[in-house]
Amino acid sequence: MSAEGVRVRPAVAEDLPWVADLVRDSFDDALLPYLIAAQPGIVSWWSTVVEHPGSFPTTRFSIAVDGDGGRLGYAELKESGERTGFLSYVAVSHAARGQGVARRLIADYLRDERHLEAMELDVFESNQPARRLYDRLGFEETSRTTWWGAPLEVDAPRADLPVADLHAVLARHRAYGFTDLVVDPGGRAVRFGVMGDDVLRCFSVDAFSDLAAQAVVRDVFPRLSRRFAVLPGDVDLPGARPLVQSLRLRSHHVAELLEDA
Ligand SMILES: CC(C)(COP(=O)(O)OP(=O)(O)OC[C@H]1O[C@@H](n2cnc3c(N)ncnc32)[C@H](O)[C@@H]1OP(=O)(O)O)[C@@H](O)C(=O)NCCC(=O)NCCS
Repeated sequence: MSAEGVRVRPAVAEDLPWVADLVRDSFDDALLPYLIAAQPGIVSWWSTVVEHPGSFPTTRFSIAVDGDGGRLGYAELKESGERTGFLSYVAVSHAARGQGVARRLIADYLRDERHLEAMELDVFESNQPARRLYDRLGFEETSRTTWWGAPLEVDAPRADLPVADLHAVLARHRAYGFTDLVVDPGGRAVRFGVMGDDVLRCFSVDAFSDLAAQAVVRDVFPRLSRRFAVLPGDVDLPGARPLVQSLRLRSHHVAELLEDA
């Protein structure tokens, strides 16, 4: 196969189980519990986006197919700021890698969104194939974050604090397998995410160390056993271990990328 026969089309709901399998297959197993895209309800979440594009006007799910319509790769893109696009994810099936499919998916988006002047994305430091792709496309590092993990303190006493919109929190978790929530909304307003049954995401250093607020969440989701936080690279989190480093990359060479395609 050569990239010449490749076509890019918008994703439809029938593509999404294939996309979910491809995404799961492209990450280290140890990281899957921490990723929204790897949660069991992600297909329902994406279906909502794909079936109601009017409600997600700046998000684009694209599928690359070969001449026979066989799926080769997928990209999720969105507009993240003024004249800046964000590549949320790109993945290509093993058999089709190294033939320009990922490059094609990105160029196709830029061709339709000509007002964009820059693109950004996040990539794990250890993901060498993806970093080589982004190097070739002119992306450069602008910042980095560390993903920190630690066990949840299961014996912490529970504070008597409310969770905002608890019914909606539970309904989202039931439908999609993940949710976010705010403990003590009228007070400290500590924000968390719940991924699957056992991972608690803490959105700040304060949330990571607020054992009383964590115990409130655990009362609602009793199988939670570990917590993690994504923090700027210069922040150290005592008592936690680094899971992975993530780099934020930016490219101003959008026009050149289009010429190549
Ligand atoms: C990263 C990934 C999407 C690249 O897709 P791809 O279709 O193979 O990439 P392309 O063929 O379009 O490559 C574009 C450029 O990157 C280079 N490149 C891509 N993968 C490479 C590899 N494994 N080794 C060396 N160079 C590579 C190509 O040589 C090409 O440069 P060129 O056109 O100047 O020759 C693919 O490896 C993948 O699906 N990985 C798993 C998912 C993932 O990690 N996604 C990124 C998350 S941030």
